[in-house]
Amino acid sequence: MVKINNMENCKENLIEVKNVHKTFSSNTGLFEPKKEPVYALKGVSLNIKKGEILGLVGESGSGKSTLGNCILKLLDINCGEILYDGVNVENFTKKDVKEFRKKTGLIFQNPYSSLNPKMKIKEILSEPLIVNGIKDKKTREEMLEEIVSLTGLNSDDLGRFPHEFSGGQRQRIAIARALILKPEFVVADEPISALDVSIQAQIINLLIDLKEKFNLTYLFISHDLNVVKYLCTRVVIMYRGEIVEEGETTEIFKNPKHSYTKLLLDSIPKVY
Ligand SMILES: Nc1ncnc2c1ncn2[C@@H]1O[C@H](COP(=O)(O)OP(=O)(O)OP(=O)(O)O)[C@@H](O)[C@H]1O
Ligand SMILES: [Mg+2]
Repeated sequence: MVKINNMENCKENLIEVKNVHKTFSSNTGLFEPKKEPVYALKGVSLNIKKGEILGLVGESGSGKSTLGNCILKLLDINCGEILYDGVNVENFTKKDVKEFRKKTGLIFQNPYSSLNPKMKIKEILSEPLIVNGIKDKKTREEMLEEIVSLTGLNSDDLGRFPHEFSGGQRQRIAIARALILKPEFVVADEPISALDVSIQAQIINLLIDLKEKFNLTYLFISHDLNVVKYLCTRVVIMYRGEIVEEGETTEIFKNPKHSYTKLLLDSIPKVY
């Protein structure tokens, strides 16, 4: 059995999010009447410790993906601060941003839309290597072989296109792409919600296995509290752009304080 979230490694903060606000302009056209911006994050603060899997739960539209994307510097924030390993990501130089891209990864919810259908798996997995300046073909091929075997794919799969794979295998490919540069931090944005229940556990076990191998830190976004309970020692609950509750997962399950958390827990099907 793989040991999840060894707390010995979890003392230092890898990420500190401090009072972050994020709005989206909701105007669609030049002649549209001016609309109020969408307020996606309203003063969000949280810490992610090195080596932990932090669960992030909340209803649709509560700002989970926005928060994950802001942490990965894929979206700009309006105000507040995000520190990565103690450094404010706003102050990153171009070189720092390049390094940051190597150190971080994102796994999307939908493996059907996140892989370019016109590219073979070899091209999909090589892209981050080429973008990050790994010029030596032999090194790239070795890295491809390694990640293919670590994610439970076959070397033959490299010559195929995404449509030739099942949902679970596509998610393995997406995970391989996110991890090929051996990042230290990964946002897994509902990585199993689009998959058949029968293969969800395989993907969860793969994520745990890779966490141990690469000493990863995850922000694990999910609607499924049972999965969060299994995977995460700590959990953060978001509601309408705010964090309404956070703490040890077992404690929150035992003693939820916010009405939304209570509602979420009540909605878990019970096995009698
Ligand atoms: N690019 C965008 N442009 C405009 N509004 C956006 C954009 N991205 C997100 N939003 C809005 O910001 C809010 C938060 O969205 P977000 O996608 O972060 O929610 P979520 O918690 O990830 O939801 P889900 O569980 O459905 O994935 C929503 O009101 C959404 O409509
Ligand atoms: Mg989302």
